[in-house]
Amino acid sequence: MKSSFVFFFLMSEIVTNIHPTPQAPLLYPYGLDQGDRKNPKLDDGTSKRLPLSVPFTFYGKEYRTLYVNNNGVISFDTQVKQYTPDPFPLADGRAFVAPYWGDVHNVLGGEIYYRQTTDPELLQLITHNINQYFPAIPFTATWAFVATWDHVAYYDSKSNKGNTFQAALTTSTDTSFVILNYKDIQWTTGVASGGDPKTGLGGTPAHAGFNSGDETNYYNIPGSRTEAVINITKTSNVNVPGRWVFQVDDFKVTGVPTETPNSAADKRCWL
Ligand SMILES: *[C@@H]1O[C@H](CO)[C@@H](O)[C@H](O)[C@H]1NC(C)=O
Repeated sequence: MKSSFVFFFLMSEIVTNIHPTPQAPLLYPYGLDQGDRKNPKLDDGTSKRLPLSVPFTFYGKEYRTLYVNNNGVISFDTQVKQYTPDPFPLADGRAFVAPYWGDVHNVLGGEIYYRQTTDPELLQLITHNINQYFPAIPFTATWAFVATWDHVAYYDSKSNKGNTFQAALTTSTDTSFVILNYKDIQWTTGVASGGDPKTGLGGTPAHAGFNSGDETNYYNIPGSRTEAVINITKTSNVNVPGRWVFQVDDFKVTGVPTETPNSAADKRCWL
């Protein structure tokens, strides 16, 4: 008995060693043990204004502060409390990254974590990923900001559904990228946006993408503001299901058709 157990143990070690690189997890490490802070438990809540230790260039403009907004948006300079998403480009010129803009209610469930970091291990991983996806662009991350929505509920939920997604902002000081990771998406819409309390579906679904603040530079991830956004965990522009990565210091969208202001994704059907 004992010796066969040891044999089995040795065999599984050997099998493990034959596959030394298991699939990397989609989400970068997060949580209180990573030094994250948590957003307040508040409907339409936001973080405090967070000063950045390194300026972040977003479409030609340097930003020195940002907010993590409960409703699935990281915004520069001004908070976003709006819970029903508008299509991009926004008429009012707010600059922000929307991993999943919708009516999150972290009082009913889930947590929103964030940190800015120069942790060498994380920067090495992010550098490795960016170099893989954009081999023609020299890039070494010197700073990152990671915000994670962990199993967050929707407004007026009558279910246990939760969405888990993450946005990482990173820069080498002259080149910057945004990495969006979608681990688990179970709902699209809060009840105040026309969603069904029991399913979190219907109404005006969540919107993913970014708005530079001017009228021409923006991107709507396919499926945004349609029921198909539930499948964002299966789509990608870098061949990793659930991951979307963009160079954002200047306007560039790689691996997907670039949109013009007259062909925004919300006017198309992505089913
Ligand atoms: C999501 O994807 C599945 C197939 O992977 C498809 O059957 C389903 O219709 C999609 N849902 C929506 C709402 O587009």
